[in-house]
Amino acid sequence: MKIEGKSYKTIWFKNNLVKIIDQTKLPHQFIIKDLKTVKDAINAIKRMEVRGAPLIGATAAYGLALSIIEKNDLSFLKKSSEELIASRPTAINLKWAVDRMMRKLSGVNNKDILKIALDEAKAITEEDVKFCKNIGLNGLKLIEDIANKKKDTVNILTHCNAGWLATIDWGTATSPIYHAYQKGIKVHVWVDETRPRNQGANLTSYELNEEGISNTVITDNAGGILMQRGQVDMCIVGTDRTLSNGDVCNKIGTYLKALSAKDNNVPFYVALPSSTIDWSIKDHKQIPIEERNSDELSHVEGIDENNEIKKVRIYPQKSKSLNLAFDVTPAKLVTGLITEKGICEASENGLKGLFK
Ligand code: MRU
Repeated sequence: MKIEGKSYKTIWFKNNLVKIIDQTKLPHQFIIKDLKTVKDAINAIKRMEVRGAPLIGATAAYGLALSIIEKNDLSFLKKSSEELIASRPTAINLKWAVDRMMRKLSGVNNKDILKIALDEAKAITEEDVKFCKNIGLNGLKLIEDIANKKKDTVNILTHCNAGWLATIDWGTATSPIYHAYQKGIKVHVWVDETRPRNQGANLTSYELNEEGISNTVITDNAGGILMQRGQVDMCIVGTDRTLSNGDVCNKIGTYLKALSAKDNNVPFYVALPSSTIDWSIKDHKQIPIEERNSDELSHVEGIDENNEIKKVRIYPQKSKSLNLAFDVTPAKLVTGLITEKGICEASENGLKGLFK
């Protein structure tokens, strides 16, 4: 998608370097950063310079290629793969991408290993672009149906950033919105600010603005009243890990939006590529929920009137904080899953029907 009219992907490889857009600096500064070593890739994931389930998977894949460039040695590669998987615990795409890379590299000789690693990392990114595009085409039909019935602007609420910045291109939750807009359907997006890191306000609103899509940033607590007032036609969110029974783990606060949607008969959809499905665990209590530094809660960052980025504390130093990054929305609150293969019920039958 575009930034100041120029098309970008979120990650690419050039001259033995992995290039990323540093998302901790958006929307105030647009900075392309070089990752030179696997440690750089691990730190970029931990510090959330790259974020969003599909993008951290792709970064880990390229991180393994960087580890081979640094030291073409099997035990170093294995150690790198373990550190990459541990860099953020909740999004399954990270482990999915590392496991896929390690399977591809197993038994490969030292001479060929770098080329094979780079080709596979590129394949992961290209596949994600294709999958996200198809999620958009499948989700487009839902927006079209509402537009045809309503004959007016379709209002869509989204949480966090499941936009192109969280993937390689298109996004998951935003892809149907981009496709609808490109088809001439009038859409407006309610963007949850998504405390504490404000991915909605900082990233989703920014990328929608860059594409010319009408959007309004709202506080995380405003979705309920907007739904009661009939100002939300549908919700579309992303996910970091969806279980085979249809339970959806996503950014903290998603669950509360789903409850509110249910109470107000607003359809609640989750958009995901198959790389986000965890087929291995059956109980959401087994999902490792990331607990992040309390600094993210106690401080806010923004730009002042002199265009300087400032970080300020917002509550007493003495206060305790708990910063859980994700929650789980039970399948019964999810109207449907929008995947690259079609839309299905959030259930084992639904998912197995699409992914044999
Ligand atoms: O903590 P983040 O910003 O990495 O969380 C991202 C989300 O929760 C997204 O909704 C999810 O990864 C889906 S991205 C297409």
